Amino acid sequence: IDALLAEGVNGKRVFVRADLNVPLADGTITDDGRIRAVLPTVKALAEAGAKVVVASHLGRPKGAPDPDFSLRPAAERLGELLGAPVAFAEDTVGPGAHGAVDGLAPGQVAVLENLRFNAGETSKDDAERGEFADKLAALADVYVGDGFGAVHRKHASVFDLPAKLPHYAGYLIATEVGVLKKLTDDVKRPYAVVLGGAKVSDKLGVIDHLLEKADRILIGGGMAYTFLKAQGHEVGISLLQEDQIPAVKEYMERATEKGVEFVLPVDVLVSPDFPDLKTKAPANPTTVAADAIPADQEGLDIGPETRKLYASKLADAATIFWNGPLGVFEHPDYAEGTKAVAQALLDSPAFTVVGGGDSAAAVRTLGFDENAFGHISTGGGASLEYLEGKTLPGLAALEN
Ligand code: 3PG
Repeated sequence: IDALLAEGVNGKRVFVRADLNVPLADGTITDDGRIRAVLPTVKALAEAGAKVVVASHLGRPKGAPDPDFSLRPAAERLGELLGAPVAFAEDTVGPGAHGAVDGLAPGQVAVLENLRFNAGETSKDDAERGEFADKLAALADVYVGDGFGAVHRKHASVFDLPAKLPHYAGYLIATEVGVLKKLTDDVKRPYAVVLGGAKVSDKLGVIDHLLEKADRILIGGGMAYTFLKAQGHEVGISLLQEDQIPAVKEYMERATEKGVEFVLPVDVLVSPDFPDLKTKAPANPTTVAADAIPADQEGLDIGPETRKLYASKLADAATIFWNGPLGVFEHPDYAEGTKAVAQALLDSPAFTVVGGGDSAAAVRTLGFDENAFGHISTGGGASLEYLEGKTLPGLAALEN
C-alpha cells in the first residue's frame, strides 16, 4: 500500500476488501477488533484523497439478502472509529452501491452491503465468480486486499477481483503475514502451541504441520474429548468426533516418535447441561479427573490442575501460538481455562501469537489488554491455513 500511496490516489476509487465479519448479538457488535484492525489502511487512503470503497462478508448468508447479516452495524462502527461519516450502500453491486460510490468526494468512505448476499461471491464456478468480480471491478480503479481473515477463501472479492484491477496489500495483511512468517521460518525454541475450539477436524492440517515444527502441543476445548477418547477414556456426553479418532491416534503416535509432547487435560469441569449463555445463570459445574467423566455429563472447561499444568508448560517457551478457547468461555463458570492460558501468555517473555477470531474475541471480552500480547491475529482459519503451509488464494492473488 505504501507504493500505491507514493503513486498517489487522490480522487481514485480504491476498493478495500476488509474482513468486517464481527460477532453480533441482537444487532450489536460485541467485539469490534476486526474493524479497528483495518483502520490504518482506510485512514491512510482517505487522508491521501482516495474515494474508499470498503467491502466485506459477514456471517454465512445463503447468497441472497438477509437482514440478519447486514453490514450496516459494522459501517456505523467504522464511521464512529474514523470520526467521519461513512456512506452505506444498501446493495453490493446494484444501484445502491453505484449511487454511494458516485457520491463520494475524495477522502470519503463508503461501505457496501454484505458481499455474500450475492451467490457469485462464494461460487465454486469460476465463471460465476468472475462475473460477480466484474461487477465489483466496475466500482473501483484500484484494489487493496486487507481482509486477512478471509484470505484462505477462494471467493470473488478475495481471489478473482484483484486480477482485474491494479492490486496492493494493505497494512493489516502485511503485518499478519510478517508475524506468521516468524512461526514458520526460523522459529525460536521451545515452541509451544495451545489448540482449543470445538472441532478436531478443523485442526487436523495444522496439527500435521506442527508435528514437524512444535516442541509441545497443549490441547483444550471441545476437541480435547476426542483426544481423551482416543486414549481410551470415556467422555460422557462431551463433544466427540468419533470419526477423527484414528487420525488423532496416528498423530499421538507420530508425536511420540518425533519427541513432540502432546499435553492433554488431567481434569475437567463437567455438568449434565450446557450453560445458558444468555442469562449466564450459575452452572454449578463439578471438577472431575479427565479419565473419570460421568456417563451423563459433558466436559465444558479444563480444570484447575490442568490450568496449572498448562501454565507450567508455557512458562519456559520462547514462542507460543494459541488458537481456540479452552472452554465455553462465554459463560463465567467455564472461562477460567481460557483466562489461565491468556494469563500464561502474558506472564511469558516468549514471542506470543493469538490466532483466530474466537480466541482474539475471548481475550478482549475476558478483559485482557490486547496490546499486552505479542500479536493477536484477525484470522482464525486463515492463520491456521497459513501455518499449514497452504497457498492462500487471497495472498496468491496479491502476489501475482
Ligand atoms: C472468519 O471469521 O474466520 C473469517 O471472517 C472467514 O469467515 P468464513 O469462515 O465464513 O469464510
